[in-house]
Amino acid sequence: MALSETFQQVVCAAAQSPQKGRALRKLAMQLLSDLPGYDWCGIYVLEGENLILDEYVGAPTDHTMIPIGVGVCGTAVAEDRNQVIEDVRTLSNYLSCSVSTRSEIVVLIRDSSGRALGQIDIDSHMVGTFGQEDELMLQELGEVIAERWSD
Ligand code: SME
Repeated sequence: MALSETFQQVVCAAAQSPQKGRALRKLAMQLLSDLPGYDWCGIYVLEGENLILDEYVGAPTDHTMIPIGVGVCGTAVAEDRNQVIEDVRTLSNYLSCSVSTRSEIVVLIRDSSGRALGQIDIDSHMVGTFGQEDELMLQELGEVIAERWSD
């Protein structure tokens, strides 16, 4: 699948920036937050058995530390696969950041050997915002972030 021009621009802007580490992750979240329906954009870093909130754009959340296996974020790590949730109201294991959230996508950020370093988590106020193309774009963005993971 080819990415739309808008999605390509996000990946290219991150890839072409001279930033690295946390500054690059911040830039990436700012770029994503300009996309329609991308209402909360954040990165969680995997540290031991927990996901720790890193850079984000959007309302502050109580979920700054999420154990593996808990919520959509922790499930992505436990199952070692991305999560695309059409409507979070159908889930029993959902951790709510905002009462307005309806759909969510979590894409794992992996190092070159495939090990999860963390994840990109996006929340939307609309049902069904995220599909295959969003997943692909976030995966490409995750690769850019992973290549320059350290500060
Ligand atoms: N909804 C996530 C928690 C993180 S917030 O969306 C920012 C989850 O269920 O894991």
